[in-house]
Amino acid sequence: MGKSNIYIETYGCQMNLADTELVLGILKKHGYDVTKQADEADVILLNTCSIRDNAEQRIYGRLGNFKTLKNIKPGLIVGVLGCMAERLRKDLIEDLPTGSQSGQAGKKIVDLVVGPDEYRRLPEFLDTAFNGEKGIGVKLSRTETYDDIIPFREDGLQAWLSVMRGCDKFCTFCVVPFTRGRERSRSLSSVVEEVKQLSERGFREVTLLGQNVNSYVDGQNDFADLLAACAQVSRKTRIRFTTSHPQDLSDKLLYTIAAHPNICNYIHLPVQSGSNRILELMNRTYTVEHYLSLIDKAKRIISGVSFSTDIISGFPTETDEDHAMTLDLMKRVRYDGAYMFKYSPREGTKAYKMKDDVVDEVKTKRLQEIIELQHQISYEINQSLIGKEEVILVEGFSRKSDQFLSGRTDTNKVVIIPAEGKIKEGNYVKVKINRATSGTLFGDFQEFYDPEEQLALTA
Ligand code: 5AD
Ligand code: SF4
Repeated sequence: MGKSNIYIETYGCQMNLADTELVLGILKKHGYDVTKQADEADVILLNTCSIRDNAEQRIYGRLGNFKTLKNIKPGLIVGVLGCMAERLRKDLIEDLPTGSQSGQAGKKIVDLVVGPDEYRRLPEFLDTAFNGEKGIGVKLSRTETYDDIIPFREDGLQAWLSVMRGCDKFCTFCVVPFTRGRERSRSLSSVVEEVKQLSERGFREVTLLGQNVNSYVDGQNDFADLLAACAQVSRKTRIRFTTSHPQDLSDKLLYTIAAHPNICNYIHLPVQSGSNRILELMNRTYTVEHYLSLIDKAKRIISGVSFSTDIISGFPTETDEDHAMTLDLMKRVRYDGAYMFKYSPREGTKAYKMKDDVVDEVKTKRLQEIIELQHQISYEINQSLIGKEEVILVEGFSRKSDQFLSGRTDTNKVVIIPAEGKIKEGNYVKVKINRATSGTLFGDFQEFYDPEEQLALTA
C-alpha cells in the first residue's frame, strides 16, 4: 500500500518528460502511489518549463486552477518542479511583486519548490511539506546525473532516456544554463544497460536525450561511441537522439549514424537564425556558411538523412534583412520540420540586457512568414515521397480512427496505413506512400520488414 497519491503534470521539453519518470521512480520507491486523476491526489506536482514567458504564464494559470481544489482539500500539497522552480525559487512561495492575475492566484498555494538537480531529496521535502512547512530544494549540482535511479515508465514502444544534463553553451537568449546548470554525462555502461532493459521489455525506440546531447562525454567515450553501443544492443530497437548543437556534430558522429541502420537518419539541428550578425549576438559559435557545410557533409555521409531545426524570430536588433536571411537559409537546407518561436526575453540571460526592440507585431509577422515557408517546404518534401517505399515502426491505431494504423519512418514522419489484423503494434513494415500533406504521409502495406534479417544482408 502506498502512502499517498501523487499526480504529476509535465510541461516543456522531452528532458522534462524523462525527469517526470525519474521523479516517479524515486517517489514510488519511497512508497508513494501514482494517480492520473488530480482530484484523487494528496500531492500535485507540476514539472515546469521556463524557456519562454508564455510557458510560465500557462503554469501560473494551472496553479490557479489547483487553488480551487486546495480549498476543498486543505491538506493537499502542491509542488513546482523543474526549470521554473529553479528560476523563481522562493518567489514561488513568497509574494512576488510582478506577475499576471493568474500568477498572483498561483503563488499563494505552492508548498514545495524543487529544482532539476534535487529530485533525489524529494521524499524529504515532501515530508517537510506534510509537516506544514515549505519544502525547498533548488541547489544545482555539477555531478548529479541520477545514473543509478530507475525511472518509472509505463509499458510502450517509445522511451526517453536522459544521457546528459545541463548546458555549457550559454546562448545569450537561453535560460537553460541557469535552470539546469553545467553539463555532465551519465556513464556509458549504465545507459547501455538501460537500453538493454527497455529492449527486453519490448520497447522498440529509445530517444537519447540531452540539452546538448552530442557533447556527451564519459571518460574516453564520446557521443558517437555511446550511440554505437546503444545501437548494438538490439537491431530491433531504433535509437534516436536530441538535441544536437552544430558545434559538436563531429564527422565521427555522422559516420556512426551512417554505419548503423537502427540509428535513425534524422538530426534535430537548431539553427536559430540565418544571419551571421544575429548568430554572433546569440553566441551560437558558428556561421551560416559553416552550418550549411555541416548539412552538406551530413547529406553526403548519411544517405537519406533529414533535418529539423529551431528558429527564433525577433531577436534584439533583428532587421528585415536578417529575417530575409533566415528565410533564405530555410530554402537552402529544406528542413523536414521546424519548431519556430517568437523571441522572449529571459531575466538573467545576456540578451535580457539588450533592448527587446523588435515590436511584437513585427515578431509575429516574421514568425508567420517562417511558419508558412516551413509548411510549404514540408509539403513539397512529403509530396516528393509519393510512390516511394518507406519502412515504418507501427505504433498503434491512428488518432482519428481504428480503421487505420499509424507509424513513423526513421526520418520521424508519421505514416497512416489501413489497419489489417495481421499488422501489430511494434511491427516494422514496408509501406508505399500514395498521398501526403505537410504533416502526414498516407500509404499501403507492402510487406513485413525484419531489421535483423536486413542487417544480415547488408553486413
Ligand atoms: N525565446 C524564444 N525561443 C527560445 N528558445 C530558447 N530560448 C528562447 C527564448 N528566450 C528556443 C530555441 C531553442 C528551443 C528549445 O527554444 O530555439 O532551441
Ligand atoms: Fe539553451 Fe543554447 Fe544550451 Fe540549447 S545550446 S539549451 S539554446 S544555451
